Amino acid sequence: MNSPASVNAQGLVAKQPAGVEVATAVAGVPGVKGTPSVLFVDQSGQLGGAELCLLPLASTWAARREVLLLADGPFRARLESLGVQVELTCDARVSGISKNAVRFGWLMALPGIVRQARAIARRAKAFDVLFLNTQKALVLGALGKPLHRKRIIWHLHDIVSVEHFGPVQRLVVKWLTRFAVDHVVANSRASAASLVELTHFAPESVPVVHNGVDLNAFQDIDASDLRALRRHLGLPETAWLAGLFGRLAPWKGQHIALEALANLPDVHLVLVGAALFGEEAYVEALRVQAAGLRIEDRLHFVGFQDNAPAWMKAMDVILHTSTAPEPFGRVIIEGMAAGRPVIASAAGGVTEIVRHGKNGLLVEPGDAAALAGAVEALRAEPDRAQRLVSQALIDVEQHFSLDEYIAQMTKAIAYVAR
Ligand code: UDP
Ligand code: GLC
Repeated sequence: MNSPASVNAQGLVAKQPAGVEVATAVAGVPGVKGTPSVLFVDQSGQLGGAELCLLPLASTWAARREVLLLADGPFRARLESLGVQVELTCDARVSGISKNAVRFGWLMALPGIVRQARAIARRAKAFDVLFLNTQKALVLGALGKPLHRKRIIWHLHDIVSVEHFGPVQRLVVKWLTRFAVDHVVANSRASAASLVELTHFAPESVPVVHNGVDLNAFQDIDASDLRALRRHLGLPETAWLAGLFGRLAPWKGQHIALEALANLPDVHLVLVGAALFGEEAYVEALRVQAAGLRIEDRLHFVGFQDNAPAWMKAMDVILHTSTAPEPFGRVIIEGMAAGRPVIASAAGGVTEIVRHGKNGLLVEPGDAAALAGAVEALRAEPDRAQRLVSQALIDVEQHFSLDEYIAQMTKAIAYVAR
């Protein structure tokens, strides 16, 4: 793993003009007159990784801020419970546009797009900076720029490749980023590289800020009596448990874990997460697959859980099985923070976190046999697993802390507001 910290610093410094003056309030940020007020915009009301990444930033922001959501859901309650003002502007047609939408989908949604772009622009007028956290937020926030004329920062959480996005979406992203966005921060070098390839931006103009994790949230969970913790969560107390966290979706590769489980007779698999964006057919396919493989008695669907740290600590190993390159993979740094060995798919941002054989294990995406082999290896060598865990904890503390993440994002926002 190269040092994420140095990447962060490099990226930000590279885009900052030389010789700007240091002002007050945003500690150490050149050229900023006080902490800017921010309107954060996110398309989802669900608790996905991008939203959980925004949560601590929005809730600790040291100036006036508001979150504008394009869909309602549990994210709103979480924000409000932390004292964040939330506004909603929903439109079913716009919400219905998928990442791979063709021209027709966009055209049908056009009136809604105009309405929502206007709604964002209206709210943005009261803030210094418009912070766009998702793809639809980008499109709608950037389209309304002639109306609000605010500086825009886009937090890129995606790999904008053909594997993940349709041609229309990529084209729209390319032009809006070029002409309406003032600054982009990517969640990994993999995401940044995909944007550079799409837009031909200079690589140093897309700085990377990796997600951070609150280690206290993990340290606060008492897992000294593992059986008691499992009993409390309704999990089998004595089984060897592999946990796979994240929404149930084909590219998250839960089917690969099921396939591996068929070759791990003494292991149980716990799927923590739900179909957040209408992937019910996939969930059904997983159940059919489990029946076919005769692993139903060792497979536990526990749905979405709010307390991921406790669930992670209840596991013997944390799996990450995405079949397409993962933009970052919060679940990986969380598994590391939980003090559990992590086995992850070697693609995308994951390789910026996991160093094979040092702080975790990497397997080829989609390779169920390799995944089963890695699980067996960790079961057979608990001392080795413990060594990986110890190094992973050091790495999380050094490179993926919440404090560092907030500090870097604060600098990036302050830079936009300069
Ligand atoms: N998560 C959760 N409860 C669940 C399943 C997942 O809180 O039942 C959280 C998980 O802890 C992580 C996030 O959802 O913080 C998933 O983020 P990640 O970046 O790994 O994937 P994404 O879904 O954003 O692609
Ligand atoms: C997105 C990505 C995920 C990343 C998260 C936070 O949801 O899919 O890989 O961890 O954003 O940046």
